[in-house]
Amino acid sequence: MNILVVGGGGREHAIIKKLKENKRVSRIFALPGNGGIAADAECYPIKATDIDGIVSFAKEHSIDFAVVAPDDPLVLGCVDRLEALGIPCFGPRANAAIIEGSKVFSKNLMKKYGIPTADSETFDNYEAAVKYLRGVDYPTVIKADGLALGKGVIIAQSFDEAEAAVKEIMCDKVFGASGSRILVEEFLTGPEVSVLSFTDSKTVVPMVSSMDHKRAGDGDTGLNTGGMGTIAPNPYYTAEVSEECMERIFLPTIKAMNAEGRAFKGCLYFGLMLTPKGPKVIEYNCRFGDPETQVVLPLLESDLLDIMIAVSEERLSECEVRFSDGAACCVVMASEGYPKAYKTGYEIKVGDLAENEKVYIAGAKLEDGKVLTAGGRVLGAVATAPCLECAVKQAYGLVEKISFENAYYRRDIGKRALDCKK
Ligand code: AMP
Ligand code: GLY
Repeated sequence: MNILVVGGGGREHAIIKKLKENKRVSRIFALPGNGGIAADAECYPIKATDIDGIVSFAKEHSIDFAVVAPDDPLVLGCVDRLEALGIPCFGPRANAAIIEGSKVFSKNLMKKYGIPTADSETFDNYEAAVKYLRGVDYPTVIKADGLALGKGVIIAQSFDEAEAAVKEIMCDKVFGASGSRILVEEFLTGPEVSVLSFTDSKTVVPMVSSMDHKRAGDGDTGLNTGGMGTIAPNPYYTAEVSEECMERIFLPTIKAMNAEGRAFKGCLYFGLMLTPKGPKVIEYNCRFGDPETQVVLPLLESDLLDIMIAVSEERLSECEVRFSDGAACCVVMASEGYPKAYKTGYEIKVGDLAENEKVYIAGAKLEDGKVLTAGGRVLGAVATAPCLECAVKQAYGLVEKISFENAYYRRDIGKRALDCKK
């Protein structure tokens, strides 16, 4: 089979490596992929947002199955376009991807169907938003409606901060059209859990839970990033919590999307906060998380391609989805300075890997046969082990085997999870 994977980060590398375990896979094309993914797939420089380019490529390369991984092409209707060519896909159509593409849509969905989430108000007018912000408790949360490269959420500690954020989003349009509407949301507290799930709109199968580490610095300090590391499973997500989430969040969400005529097929990501009043939805993503995928897929014992095809054919209930009961840890190695300015172009060297170690490349280019750094987040060093403590230790051992100039990584990935277990 010829497989097309749209995207080019660490998440896509993890997906591609897992797909390659299936014997029926003959070729994998990655658009655009990256210099590290090039070791595992044929990469072509077509951007994930270039839907016309992707469609022409798919026509020319006899693609049997496509996996669209990032949010933007999903929201832009990449799956609709590929399906129109007769190519089966893993990923939601545009009318379902809106669950991530519009935070106003997803908030209204949750309100309408009684799915637990933070209270909020929607505004499309700057003056009305500011007036409202004078009367709320702080901290408060401000969210741009549309996709904003993961930066559209601002936690404002005071009215002044909130007003400045709303001005940037609604008047200065720092996120473009994504900011023409905003949500002002109640600030929730509690441990965060990421739950990725497979769903074909009839059945929903949660994957092993995980925990992201979004801040740049140790002890959850510094700027927000795309994610500096992950662990799985998330120890806060007990069997009891998981049952409650299935009943009150996962199944109601799938049913709500069906009732709205927006059947969701693909990976639905539930970003949850375990508040004192029970689990609540912080965000939905219409795709695999990054870097959650880098710890979730190495624990998947069943065949990923078989599951993805079953999802696209709406027969997920017939498919085995089994995870190992071990643990995984991913330490993201970034370029010093990320998420602000950083230098790139340094050679990445990786020592010999043990069977339970993986390196997923996120930001790299190939030049004269050398793999050079080419992004803020450069790679994920991942280890699986029978217990979380061993996985964390081994992932940091793996980091020692990897070198590039200007490397920066957090030293405390997994610490909070291990503290929870004590
Ligand atoms: P997002 O960009 O949607 O992933 O959100 C970024 C982060 O903002 C989340 O991971 C939470 O830590 C935080 N956040 C979002 N909504 C809320 C909320 N209502 N209360 C507290 N924190 C929030
Ligand atoms: N790790 C969070 C996300 O993928 O959105």
